[in-house]
Amino acid sequence: MTTFASFLREREGSLTEQMDRPDCDPDRLRRSYARFPLVNFLVAAWGRNYTRRIRPLLSGSTPLTLLDLGCGGGELVRRLVRRAARDGLLLEATGADPDPRAHAFATSRPAHDGVTYLRADSTELLTGGRQYDVVVSNHVLHHLSAAELAAMLSDSERLARRLVLHNDLRRSRLAYLLFLAGFWPLGPGSYIHTDGLASIRRSYTQAELRAIVPPGWQVVRNGAWHLLLVYRPPGGGSA
Ligand SMILES: C[S@@+](CC[C@H](N)C(=O)[O-])C[C@H]1O[C@@H](n2cnc3c(N)ncnc32)[C@H](O)[C@@H]1O
Repeated sequence: MTTFASFLREREGSLTEQMDRPDCDPDRLRRSYARFPLVNFLVAAWGRNYTRRIRPLLSGSTPLTLLDLGCGGGELVRRLVRRAARDGLLLEATGADPDPRAHAFATSRPAHDGVTYLRADSTELLTGGRQYDVVVSNHVLHHLSAAELAAMLSDSERLARRLVLHNDLRRSRLAYLLFLAGFWPLGPGSYIHTDGLASIRRSYTQAELRAIVPPGWQVVRNGAWHLLLVYRPPGGGSA
């Protein structure tokens, strides 16, 4: 029997998120993509990742290339390119997602200088011989099976020349309760609320991720609700 004390003690990797079902409602899915920017802005701490970890690698003369794996509706790459432009720095970003529905949504948004979208997963990008200075992801790791997670980490080690940042939810009862109570207004007509709760149940603790990641990866707290996996390829410079 699940009690409050045992709830969320274990990761519930067998739960399926509605958005991951090929037969989910397309209108609800599109509304979910459209609401990701607000969720990410409120909880995902990319402002801090940009300022502390990405901006130090940027310059005003040579563009840095960045890949967002599992970009969904594609808002993170647009946001990072806008932030860099505001700082007078050059960033060229690619958002990649293997799901044709995500790719269709991302490419339906108004075109943005410095932003490209591809329908691909990390292994296809690697096989295609692609490399980027920085590889990131947001809210993707908890969707993956153990084998997919291992492949994504191994692929991103080879796709990145300088830095990898995988940002994901940190499983906690407080996060679950606050999301349950505070994010219901984003629920109607979308999968944000139900899948957000399932996401927290599927997500990892810091100790669980530390036990999984290969040598060379760090798992650090990122704001109140997230964990950041950080990898610096050997010889890729510091920052
Ligand atoms: C919750 S959405 C996050 C979207 C986006 N990163 C954001 O934060 O707004 C998870 C995304 O991961 C993508 N995904 C699932 N499995 C993947 C894989 N093996 N490689 C790359 N992306 C994957 C899904 O297609 C989906 O778009």
